Amino acid sequence: MSETAALAETDFARLPDIGHGVFAAPLLRPAQVGEDWLEPAQRSYSADENRVWDELYARQMEILPGRAASAFLAGLEQLDLGRGGVPEFGRLSEELDALTGWSIVPVPMLIPDHVFFWHLANRRFPAGNFIRSREEFDYIREPDVFHDVFGHVPMLADPVYADYMQEYGRAGWKAMRHNRLKSLGALYWYTVEFGLIQEAGGLRVYGAGILSGPAEAVYSLEADSPNRIMLNVDRVMRTDYVIDDLQPTYFVIESFQQLYHDTVDRDFDRLYRSLSPGFTYANTAVIDIDDVLHRGSQEYALRGGRGSGAAPV
Ligand SMILES: [Fe+2]
Repeated sequence: MSETAALAETDFARLPDIGHGVFAAPLLRPAQVGEDWLEPAQRSYSADENRVWDELYARQMEILPGRAASAFLAGLEQLDLGRGGVPEFGRLSEELDALTGWSIVPVPMLIPDHVFFWHLANRRFPAGNFIRSREEFDYIREPDVFHDVFGHVPMLADPVYADYMQEYGRAGWKAMRHNRLKSLGALYWYTVEFGLIQEAGGLRVYGAGILSGPAEAVYSLEADSPNRIMLNVDRVMRTDYVIDDLQPTYFVIESFQQLYHDTVDRDFDRLYRSLSPGFTYANTAVIDIDDVLHRGSQEYALRGGRGSGAAPV
């Protein structure tokens, strides 16, 4: 039986065996979590930690109306994430389950790719249990509960997007077996974390990495520096990205239906076979086939980006 045929039979009811020869990052599993990497319970938060959530929430809401995707703002309201303090995952899961069948599960930190994909394939979204300190108010290296819940969860209330995320989890297993995780990671980065969408009123943000931070919503939509290019899945999966600074390029979708169709309704086996293991395009590149909405000046990156104190213009 071929690898692909074996995968087609994977039902994901239990964590499947990733198989020999498939690379998985060697993360050290904390003693309190099992193979599924789930915390026994969501932790409780101090009054000050709950205030950190409220302050982050209030700051984002100064920026996001008119910039965040309508689906995100609708999800935020449906799930009432601004009721005060870090949301309780149990209640949030019940509400989300009623809308799209998803739940939120607590994890201690970044978890291994194959476990992350497995949870997504079962419509469970793993969310960081901890919340950032005030010293890390503007920028954190590892996703915390504010990034994961405020940034990602409202989008899971959208039925088409909710299906996309589940299919992404299933596609993850396939990518691992083809050794093309890097390419699939780029797709996640340029859609789920840093995606823009064309709405009737103009460009809007649906990527959680942008929505949960203070500077990038304005920069991604309004600055002259970054490229804004219509999403082409084959091209995006060949494109490098930056993990610790504002993006030099954003990709724009027409709708979540388009995103679902362009990714899920295609032959990923064939695509994976045609991709090289590394990236072909630099993160600043504009290429012949691009449908370019805005060709960026790249001034921010050219001035040295975050480390140099360059203004995000
Ligand atoms: Fe994220």
